[in-house]
Amino acid sequence: MELQGRVAVVTGAASGIGRALSERCVAEGMSVVLADIEGDKVRGVADELAAAGGTVHAVEMDVADSDQVEALRDEAVATYGAVHLLANNAGVGSPRPNVSTSPALWRWITEVNLLGVAYGVSAFAPLMVEQGEGHIVNTASEAGLTPSPLLGAYHATKYAVVGLSESLALELNGTGVGVSCLCPELVDTLVFESTRNAPADLGLGDPPPVDIHQVEQWMQTVAMDPADVAAQVVYAVKAGRFWVLTHQSTLDRVKRRNADLEAGRVPRGVR
Ligand SMILES: NC(=O)c1ccc[n+]([C@@H]2O[C@H](COP(=O)([O-])OP(=O)(O)OC[C@H]3O[C@@H](n4cnc5c(N)ncnc54)[C@H](O)[C@@H]3O)[C@@H](O)[C@H]2O)c1
Repeated sequence: MELQGRVAVVTGAASGIGRALSERCVAEGMSVVLADIEGDKVRGVADELAAAGGTVHAVEMDVADSDQVEALRDEAVATYGAVHLLANNAGVGSPRPNVSTSPALWRWITEVNLLGVAYGVSAFAPLMVEQGEGHIVNTASEAGLTPSPLLGAYHATKYAVVGLSESLALELNGTGVGVSCLCPELVDTLVFESTRNAPADLGLGDPPPVDIHQVEQWMQTVAMDPADVAAQVVYAVKAGRFWVLTHQSTLDRVKRRNADLEAGRVPRGVR
């Protein structure tokens, strides 16, 4: 898909991968609607991009609320006349034992990571099908393809986003609307401090700063620069690629999982 002169909507645009993707879309000559629950921060990012000559519009919103996702679509169309690229990117995580994950934590992670993506598809896909062109990028994760302990709620939502994206790609085939599924391994962002956006009644408080180098050791991988992820996403949109796997090691881990699956074995995990 040609991006120059087109319109992108990016959720989770105030930080990390969403911010980098917004910057990259501006560099490609797109008008960009930056959406995020962190209002001041997303307006600050938009101000920076506008000061550098970008055509951008910030929206404070919560992807877990379907009315707000529909309002985001309406605001994007009212502002720029169309939407050609939707990045369903906002997401959260909070590692803890599966056996002690509370119902409230399950609801928060599911509502943001899975329903947020589903609401994005429901709100924007019909518009794109009517236009006869567009592209939807759903951010899943390596955690949507391979298992590890202590991340059950996160895994459940990310496997679900992979399933939704595969189904959507089959369904939209021939409509002019493409689909990509982004499955990053480790990226240097604030995702490990996600609970900063958790509902107050979860009582999770402000997370301490996380040292990405410690996470690299734990995950046995190298954290990627979000700008490099954004470049891979833009390439996939232009080329019509479905899978965007940021690290070669993800494929090795998928093969290991598939071997367990074929053998009917208990998962060995990937690390
Ligand atoms: N960083 C990684 O290693 C990694 C790996 C795999 C997948 N991912 C996925 O990438 C996506 C982007 O995360 P990131 O790594 O850039 O983290 P990040 O925390 O830096 O950015 C996430 C953004 O989403 C926003 N957000 C959170 N809840 C929201 C809500 N309810 N409504 C609207 N916006 C909301 C946050 O305010 C933040 O700006 C997520 O879906 C995450 O699960 C990240």
